[in-house]
Amino acid sequence: MKIRSAEFIRSCVNPEQFPTGAVPEIAFVGRSNVGKSSLINSLLQRKGLAKVSRTPGKTRAINLFTISTDDQTLSRFVLADLPGYGYAKVSKAERVQWAPLIEQYLSQREQLRMVVVLVESRVVSTQDGETIAWLRSIGHEPLVVATKVDKLKPSERVAALRRLQKGLGLDDGRMLTVYSSVTGEGRERLWNVLKEGCRT
Ligand code: GTP
Ligand code: MG
Repeated sequence: MKIRSAEFIRSCVNPEQFPTGAVPEIAFVGRSNVGKSSLINSLLQRKGLAKVSRTPGKTRAINLFTISTDDQTLSRFVLADLPGYGYAKVSKAERVQWAPLIEQYLSQREQLRMVVVLVESRVVSTQDGETIAWLRSIGHEPLVVATKVDKLKPSERVAALRRLQKGLGLDDGRMLTVYSSVTGEGRERLWNVLKEGCRT
């Protein structure tokens, strides 16, 4: 998979800013600091495309990117980097403002073909489980990606992933995809799953 171009479209803070047209969209969600922006940059092999920050909660709007690739099944799509949820330091007023936009985008956006939920390999979070359950309740079967897998020792890996799978309610034979933005592990596989999910 070769990325022909990857360009920032805009930061959306209200639905009127969402693009019109039929280009398929793939959304990336997850708790703040889970590594969304890093994964997006790694996936697209564009270093500064999505802003990576040491201060959790930096991505505050729905950031859209338009991607074109050399692959026929996924030659053009819009990638949506959604604001991280569950970061306490974000003011209450801001959280109240964000939630409806994200909920509306995820539940009503017709162009949305796939929702990728990023979770941290070492952390079983109730909030992640609730997000996955909520997405299912509105008709999405999210792809769950365990990030920062390089932080797991080889000896810890199997147990950690099993714990995650169980804790998130994925124990119905569903595979958990792993990813490391540091080593690039999982990149090829993630592309294949995205392609598979957007075929139809
Ligand atoms: P917000 O936009 O603030 O919600 O965060 P985010 O989910 O976009 O996370 P971001 O990509 O900004 O990464 C957060 C921190 O985790 C940064 O310090 C990254 O360097 C680090 N990080 C991200 N991905 C990985 C990874 O695969 N491995 C390791 N070891 N660190 C990572
Ligand atoms: Mg981010």
